[in-house]
Amino acid sequence: MYTELYRNQFHFAPVEKWMNDPNGMVYYEGEYHLFYQYHPESTVWGPMHWGHAVSKDLIHWEHLPVALAPDQLGYIFSGSAVMDMENTSGLGSAEAPAMVCIFTHHDATAKEAGAEDYEVQSIAYSVDKGRSWVKYDGNPVLANADKIKDFRDPKVIWDEARSRWVMVLAAKDRIRFYASTNLLDWTYLSEWGQKYGDRVGVWECPDLFPLTVEGSEEQKWILILSLNPGGPNGGSGTQYFVGDFDGERFIIDDQFAKDIAEGKGVWLDFGPDNYAGVTWSGIPQQDGRCIYIGWMSNWLYGQEVPTDAWRSAMTLPRTLSLIHSDGIYRLRTEFVSELNTISAARLEAKTFKSIKESKVLLNDITNKGYRIYFETNRKEDLTFGLKFSNEIGEYLVVGFDGAIDNYFIDRSKSGAVDFNESFTEMLFAPIGYTSEKIALDIVMDSASLEVLADEGSLAMSTIFFAQQQYNKMELVVGAGELSETSIKLYPLASIWNK
Ligand code: FRU
Repeated sequence: MYTELYRNQFHFAPVEKWMNDPNGMVYYEGEYHLFYQYHPESTVWGPMHWGHAVSKDLIHWEHLPVALAPDQLGYIFSGSAVMDMENTSGLGSAEAPAMVCIFTHHDATAKEAGAEDYEVQSIAYSVDKGRSWVKYDGNPVLANADKIKDFRDPKVIWDEARSRWVMVLAAKDRIRFYASTNLLDWTYLSEWGQKYGDRVGVWECPDLFPLTVEGSEEQKWILILSLNPGGPNGGSGTQYFVGDFDGERFIIDDQFAKDIAEGKGVWLDFGPDNYAGVTWSGIPQQDGRCIYIGWMSNWLYGQEVPTDAWRSAMTLPRTLSLIHSDGIYRLRTEFVSELNTISAARLEAKTFKSIKESKVLLNDITNKGYRIYFETNRKEDLTFGLKFSNEIGEYLVVGFDGAIDNYFIDRSKSGAVDFNESFTEMLFAPIGYTSEKIALDIVMDSASLEVLADEGSLAMSTIFFAQQQYNKMELVVGAGELSETSIKLYPLASIWNK
């Protein structure tokens, strides 16, 4: 168990069977809850359940029994969870507040029969820290009166300023907002998005949350939206928008709207493998972080990847913050600091004044997982790649192409790739916030690579299936010269079987 080929060593994954979106992330009494779309009968998608796990540190996970199973109203699709501390719903009590899951009931039979209102919103609750669950007997709590075919993935937040709950919902190619004082009765507020967001795919898994701009008192609201297809490197992808929320409607920031009008869609992650992510609810104020996790796969090939017992993993949990420079707002992504708990002391540190030709940087990496900080001066027309390879000729390259000002990932020879033809395509991401250095924070696990660049304003996540671990790292120089280059490598330990 957890020693299989392609098994990530420090990313959440089910022991077996199919998993997609993260759901219902909520923190309560020392535990981070993570639910997820789960099909316990198969390694491909099917009647959706909510799987469940908890963690005390966002890194080590304990598997719990399936929390929610399909019923007469349908499959249990994606959604969120909140702690009803004031017992607004009356479903808990002062001593035992209810943990409330708000999810989509998807009636597959009605859909097949041609109905249009086959998706509705329902709730379930637990008064024992998520260990046992009761579906509310008044479900659904939000019917699909307008008969919208894709009407799903409720994310519920507490609107502090107006002391009420707000639900953000994907409704075909719009985001809808609803309000409630008790989680049971919902009133329509507004819809947003007609002009924005990619139009190609289905809109899914929205999120809405406030962030204070780093170094100021200014507060902005972030709206997250997953689209499939329409992602920046094909298939699934997650966009975000910066603006304001007045309790009823979302108003996009002018500059942000201009960027989008010019075709500069802003993606939470430019890699192909980070989808349907949303943020944790209930993070204590003294912590104050906005913590995000996504499904580390893509609907293009997620059901075909060559793992046997299980399919897919989540991204590392990440913190999101907001940076503002030259009138432009961008999200900053960082890996949660708890990752340091599995990080060993530095294994290697090297610095180079100048590099003009390709060279081997490390050739005896023994750990399956590691974190690399790489830095070099940003220069015009500099093109280079960091090539990770093994002894059987498989390799993965992450690099920067100065001719087009794009980062890139080449996974075309990374290992098993022939399960889907789109998997070998080159992956690109335009530069984010620029600074004097190109600084990369790279986390490598047995079957995934996550890269943060440009002050965290750019993230790229990708999966791969190498048949042996990559133990060699080379710097490949394509054009120009690298100066003031440094590399540090920290081994990361496995989180399983401890
Ligand atoms: C996103 C999604 C959601 C839906 C769920 C079904 O990946 O399509 O919109 O609720 O997966 O499993």
